[in-house]
Amino acid sequence: MKKTLVVNYTPREGSNTKKMLDHFIDRNKDKTEITVLDLTENTPDLLLRDNLNPMVARNFAGIAPSEDQQKLLNKNDGFADQLMATDYVVVVTPIYNYSLPATVKAWFDAIIQPGKTLAMTEKGLKGLSENTKAVLLTTSGGDLGSDAMKHLELATPLAKACFDLLGIPSEAITVFGTQQYGDKLDDLIEASKEEINVLSEKWY
Ligand SMILES: Cc1cc2nc3c(=O)[nH]c(=O)nc-3n(C[C@H](O)[C@H](O)[C@H](O)COP(=O)(O)O)c2cc1C
Repeated sequence: MKKTLVVNYTPREGSNTKKMLDHFIDRNKDKTEITVLDLTENTPDLLLRDNLNPMVARNFAGIAPSEDQQKLLNKNDGFADQLMATDYVVVVTPIYNYSLPATVKAWFDAIIQPGKTLAMTEKGLKGLSENTKAVLLTTSGGDLGSDAMKHLELATPLAKACFDLLGIPSEAITVFGTQQYGDKLDDLIEASKEEINVLSEKWY
């Protein structure tokens, strides 16, 4: 059975984005082995002085970290290994301040590792997960898909750029306007479930 990694960041009680995820899981749980990484419980380490420097030295210059330094790299390395071992990735998150929440970006920062998930070739970086596929399930309060606001919608292009780096073709299923169109919210979520059904047929 193919493996699916769900990267879930839906901390708000009653999360609308999680409704999309619940539907995805209900629809596909018998067709694929699903592992849920809950970023609110298992949060990637931010890249700070003590872990960034040994990671750069190791990944870019081949300098082995000390045992203590390796301990500081283990958590994010584990996320990178988890990505390399999956066939499908589902990132589930609301849009915060026009972009991906910092916790989700921290996950991308943890897994995008030259020498591990990317190869350094003469032509530049090459993602090593070309057989993996990804989707972003996301919602925003305002209609960030409208002509007036679409230039502010930085979440889906950022996720796509990160997946592109990893060599992973990705798409996004979005519900824009959970607050702006609050009276039609149920219909909007239902429409996203239809899109999830279409994706599920394609994937599994
Ligand atoms: C910290 C924070 C930042 C937000 N920033 C934006 C934003 O920039 N643009 C927007 O349209 N909605 C924004 N929202 C609204 C959420 O994107 C929206 O309510 C979303 O559907 C919440 O998803 P959830 O129900 O899964 O928590 C923000 C909400 C929070 C809590």
